[in-house]
Amino acid sequence: MTASAIERYPDLSGSLEAGYTLPAAWYTEEAVFALEKRRIFAHTWQFAGLVETLPHPGDFFTYRAGDVPIVILRDAEGKLRAFINVCRHRGSELVLEEHGCKQSIQCHYHAWTYGLDGRLRAAPGSKAEPNFDPDEFSLMPAQLDTWGPFIFVNPDRDAPPLAEILGDLPAMVAATGLRLDDLRRRTGSEYDIAANWKIVTDNYLECYHCPVAHPGFSSLINVNEYTVTEYEYFSVQTAAVRASARQKGGQYSITGEVDEGFYAYVWPNFTLNIYPGPGNLSLNLFLPQGVGRTRAVFDYLFVPDVTDGDVAEFGAFIDQVQREDSVLCESVQRGMRSGHFEQGRLMLSRENGLRHFQRLVHRALTG
Ligand code: FES
Ligand SMILES: [Fe+2]
Repeated sequence: MTASAIERYPDLSGSLEAGYTLPAAWYTEEAVFALEKRRIFAHTWQFAGLVETLPHPGDFFTYRAGDVPIVILRDAEGKLRAFINVCRHRGSELVLEEHGCKQSIQCHYHAWTYGLDGRLRAAPGSKAEPNFDPDEFSLMPAQLDTWGPFIFVNPDRDAPPLAEILGDLPAMVAATGLRLDDLRRRTGSEYDIAANWKIVTDNYLECYHCPVAHPGFSSLINVNEYTVTEYEYFSVQTAAVRASARQKGGQYSITGEVDEGFYAYVWPNFTLNIYPGPGNLSLNLFLPQGVGRTRAVFDYLFVPDVTDGDVAEFGAFIDQVQREDSVLCESVQRGMRSGHFEQGRLMLSRENGLRHFQRLVHRALTG
């Protein structure tokens, strides 16, 4: 058997430090993707959805952390809980719907039925089993925590708490003047991108491409003067609004109180973006669907006094930028697969955010 792309590059630390990227094979080989699901997505905190989508007891939605299906729900006492969404009988995935409301969870295979607390309430025929103790077959919990309106889950029950990963980020977001509790989701969009999740993340982490690839965005934001600051598990890009963008009408124009764009990436697949202008927040979740496929899920939240017209304009503005980004990411995936590209070379004054991210990937896969 040929060695996997991980074994072929036994020590990348030096070249990553020097500004070289992860090898192309790390973006294209099934074995690497399988390892990422086990080493990264099965053990990290991931944004799964918004608290506002679960107002009532029994409300639920499902999420997939790599290969780990998770159901997130509000229990009868009003507490948010997350469970591994796998039946304890014979391992069927349990809740198949994306979201809904139910007061108990019944498996579609043999009708084992669990309460919203995860305990097994009924299993047809179990009375005839002399040594059957339902308490041994509660749903397995996953970790759940919230930050303002955001629900995060982690399939790994031994992982360190969410607060350790977020570090100073909540304080930094608060310092922008945006009050998270005032925000409500107004709209969103989804994109299927024929590229590895790391290409989509790499693309998010620099604005070196903005003047070339995003003329609309670059007419609003001063893309030549952005900075990327690295923290342990997140990084933040900030960029000032162009003076001309404040006066201009038409397209998406900047008229609100926030002057600087604030774009945070949180390990492994979440970003949180505050655009200059009236109180807004857009969330991007990059969900790996296959070694060369990613679903990007965007939610747009606003303070209540933002008009529907402004929400629609904002959505159209982001949609344009994302369509441009999807073309870029898909072309990189084709280049990575060509067999004629091994490691890229970053411009570290502009692309240091990629090195920060790729170090985290490297550490997770080889540590
Ligand atoms: S696998 Fe769920 S009841 Fe049998
Ligand atoms: Fe972009």
